[in-house]
Amino acid sequence: MLSVRHLIDTTSLTADDITQILDTARSFAEINSRKGIKKVPALRGRTIVNLFLEPSTRTRSSFELAEKRLSADTLNMGGSTSSVVKGESLADTIQTIDAMNVDMFVVRARFAGTPQKVTENTDAIVINAGDGKHQHPTQAMLDLYTIREHFGHLDGLKVAIVGDLAHSRVCGSLAPALKTMGADVTLVAPPTFQIGDPSWYNCNQTNHLDDVIEDMDVVYMLRVQLERMEGAAIPSRREYNRLYGLSLEREARMKPDAIICHPGPMNRGMEIDAEVADCARSRILDQVTAGVATRMAEMYLLLGGEGNGISD
Ligand code: CP
Repeated sequence: MLSVRHLIDTTSLTADDITQILDTARSFAEINSRKGIKKVPALRGRTIVNLFLEPSTRTRSSFELAEKRLSADTLNMGGSTSSVVKGESLADTIQTIDAMNVDMFVVRARFAGTPQKVTENTDAIVINAGDGKHQHPTQAMLDLYTIREHFGHLDGLKVAIVGDLAHSRVCGSLAPALKTMGADVTLVAPPTFQIGDPSWYNCNQTNHLDDVIEDMDVVYMLRVQLERMEGAAIPSRREYNRLYGLSLEREARMKPDAIICHPGPMNRGMEIDAEVADCARSRILDQVTAGVATRMAEMYLLLGGEGNGISD
């Protein structure tokens, strides 16, 4: 059992919670890699609502797939196809669905705090699937899973998170989770993208990727979130790529066993060059694969699946 009722952020998770999620995900990953039937009865009879009020490819599809593989019943709702477009409030929308007696909401939203607000209008369990610039905890769990699968552990690893930190819910979730698991985290960004607080979760901070890249076990590139920017935060796409982009020249200077991650979607040619995204060190598609197993683990642990067939 996890120490939290809802999965809203990674700062509420203990090291034991995170280890439980990653270990459980490993069992589900074995089921997902079967040649035959990739399905267990773990959440049969449970109803999960996917409320996606902001676009998503990876998170939405992996949640839907994870729910199907756990045998849950699902209801998919988007902002543009619900009565939200007629002006219905979020609270009324949640209370309406709640009245149909559902077990879980998975919520992706443009505004920070929306999943927390959902918890205030339902007795169902809530998972945050990314809210504004705040948190993306299920992304952090798939990232930790991918890194742990490569190195066999997380403690003591040196991880650089590079790029648009200021607008990044991925950084907001990943950095604290890595620190909880004993990793050494360095935040790399231009001054306009840095975290304002220099003591933030005891992470190291620098403006110079070239000063640290040779020392890192993991180089985690963030998408430049052009849609969340106000004004000219960076001089130009080309200048950003020159100073902070992961080029083949920089990739060649990484430690022999070091890996590259990116949450997607990528701006190829801006924060990461196309050849680097597809190179042998890249774990970007492994992250996507891990998304299904880790989300299965989170839903299973939060809903207390029993008689589950997990060891079938
Ligand atoms: N990484 C991530 O959240 O991607 P999507 O927006 O496609 O879900």
